This record gives sequence, C-alpha cells and structure tokens, in this order.
Amino acid sequence: MPDPSLPCGVRIAGTGSAVPKKVLTNEDLAGMMDTSDEWIRQRTGIGERRICSTDDESVFTLQCRAIRGALDDAGMKGSDLDLIIAASVTSEMTCPSNACRVATEIDAAPAGAFDIVAACSGFVYALNLADSLIRSGRHRAIGVIGCDAMSKAVDYEERTVSVLFGDAAGSAILVRDDDPLKGSIFQTMEADGSSWPSLYLPRKESDVPPGSTETSIRMGKLRMDGRDVYRFAVSKFKNVIKEALKATDLKVDDVSEFVCHQSNIRIIESAKEKLGLPDDKVYVNIDRYGNTSAGSVGLCLDELNKAGRLVEGETIVLVAFGGGLTWASSVWNL
Ligand code: UT7
Repeated sequence: MPDPSLPCGVRIAGTGSAVPKKVLTNEDLAGMMDTSDEWIRQRTGIGERRICSTDDESVFTLQCRAIRGALDDAGMKGSDLDLIIAASVTSEMTCPSNACRVATEIDAAPAGAFDIVAACSGFVYALNLADSLIRSGRHRAIGVIGCDAMSKAVDYEERTVSVLFGDAAGSAILVRDDDPLKGSIFQTMEADGSSWPSLYLPRKESDVPPGSTETSIRMGKLRMDGRDVYRFAVSKFKNVIKEALKATDLKVDDVSEFVCHQSNIRIIESAKEKLGLPDDKVYVNIDRYGNTSAGSVGLCLDELNKAGRLVEGETIVLVAFGGGLTWASSVWNL
C-alpha cells in the first residue's frame, strides 16, 4: 500500500478499445426506415456505426476486449489492478455489475469492481474518479472502461434516435506516478436531474415522465428529445471547455488535444467555432462509429494513443455530456 501522506500524480499507462464486427451503414438504415444517407450525414456527421450482431458480442465482451488491450498496451496483467470501474447504461445486469465479471475474466480478483451510470459522460466520470482514488493513496492501478451497446437500446422503427448511435468500448489503465503534476489537474462532474425526461431508458410504464403525451414509448428503448439535448449539449460543451481553460490558466494553444464525446458533428463544430479550436486538435471519429455513449471518449483516447498523439508532457482536455443530464471534464497532464 503506497504511503497516502505522499503526494502523487496519475499516469495513463495504456489504452485499449473494442468495436463489434458488423458495420451498419446509413444505406442499411435507409433500407429499414424512412431516412437517407444524405440526411444522416448532414444532420449528424455519421457515415456508419458498429453494432453487436453475434452471440459472442455484448457489452461484457467488448469491455473485456478493451481492457485486455489497455493492459497489453501498459505491459501489465489483470492481477496488477486493484480496482476496475466500468461506465455503462447498457450493462447486461445490475447485479452483478459488469465490472465484477470483467475482473474475474481478466484474473484481476480480488480487485474492487463496480459499475457507474452517467450515460455519455460515464468514461470521463470514471477517469476523474480513478484519478482521485489514486491520488488519495488508496489505489495504485485502476482499469477504467466506458462501454455501451446502444444497438440494444434503440428502436430501429424510430428514425430520429436510432440513426445516431453505435456500440463500442474504450479503456484506460491509470497508475500512480511520483510526479504530482501528472494526471487530472482540473476536473468537473456535474448533473441536472430535473431535465432527465430529455433522455431516458424506461424499463416499465411507471418510468415514463408524468404528463408525457408520447404515444409510442417502448420499454427498454431509449427516448430522446433530440432538440432539447442538442441545445443543452451545444451550450454545455462550450461552457465546460471555457471553464476548464480558465481554471487552469491555459490557452487553446497550450492544449494538444481536445478529446470530446462524439455526439453529433454539428455539436462539435459549434464548440470549435465558438472557442476557436483548430481542426487538428479536436479528434473526430463519429463518421465511423456514430455516438457510442460511454464508449466514445475512451475510443477516441485509444485511437489518439495508437496514432502517437498522446505525448508525455503535453496537456489534453476531455469533455463529455449526456443523459441525466450529466456533464464532465478533465484537464489532464500526460
Ligand atoms: O450523446 C448525448 C445525447 N444525444 C445527443 O447529443 C443528440 C442531440 N441531438 C441531435 O443530435 C439532433 O437533435 C438529432 C440528430 C437527434 C436530430 O437532428 P435535428 O436536426 O435536431 O432534427 P429534428 O429532430 O429537428 O428533425 C428535423 C426533421 C423532422 O421533420 P419535419 O418535422 O421538419 O418534417 C424530422 O421528422 O427531420 C426529420 N427527421 C429525419 N429525417 C430523415 C428526424 N430524423 C430523421 C431521419 N431521417 N433519421
């Protein structure tokens, strides 16, 4: 057990990700419902997404693949971890948590393991939490996973919501580092539960918000007021980045990458325009994967890592927002 009285920092030792094999294109969707490749590309920036289609593809298996990849990248084993935090709104069961099953699968037991639910903000919430737990001196190495299989939670008869989402997992291994300036130097995790009816996943009739006039609500399928969430996201995205830069006294030029939740290309473009963020600092993969909810930021982080764009000594800003409504940010010294 590390000496908790000694200050420490946190290092990203490795990253990993996983996506299902099956590609669902906009043309495929146009064959299933009244939509078109043109509408989807123009309104969302999405060209295709991956969806779980076989028995061996699930949230659990994507999580296992992503964390195994992150462990390999870090040169570590499951038994080196003392905690696993898995963020998802589509975990197979609420008990046991998927994190417990993942821990067993990768031989991490008796590492602690739990799931968190913060929708699309889940990965950044989990990363912030892990950073704080390591800095507290109580943990040395934490595996963080963000994963959702939204294909299980959308109604492919409802065109506004279903075209937006895909399935993916992203993972990072965080370890204690002697340099206290490494890791999250500023973070937020916030929520406004009063707006939950804008985005929710009902399990039973009584979950539907009182007074709802919607007639086609299906249990187990995501409900989203796209315009409400869009307005929230555009304003939050900009304000959260502004707040993070102000609090850390950083300028856009001081940041090497803005790693943002891939919600809709128009939301990302709006933040870029309002804050003057250059194209080459805002990673985008929504064209290939769609909005993968808790999977999105971790997937971007892994692709950036594999492209050699997470450089030691540089600073990145992670930002996400989603159901809850929730939002989160982290200014991270690599
Ligand atoms: O991850 C965090 C959570 N989610 C988000 O961040 C999503 C935020 N919201 C959005 O990204 C956008 O609101 C959507 C992509 C979901 C929808 O785009 P929009 O530009 O807000 O479209 P809209 O809902 O205002 O609909 C505009 C029109 C409507 O037709 P009318 O009423 O103008 O005739 C819709 O019926 O587009 C129609 N429409 C479609 N047409 C073709 C809605 N979905 C489709 C579709 N294909 N898939």
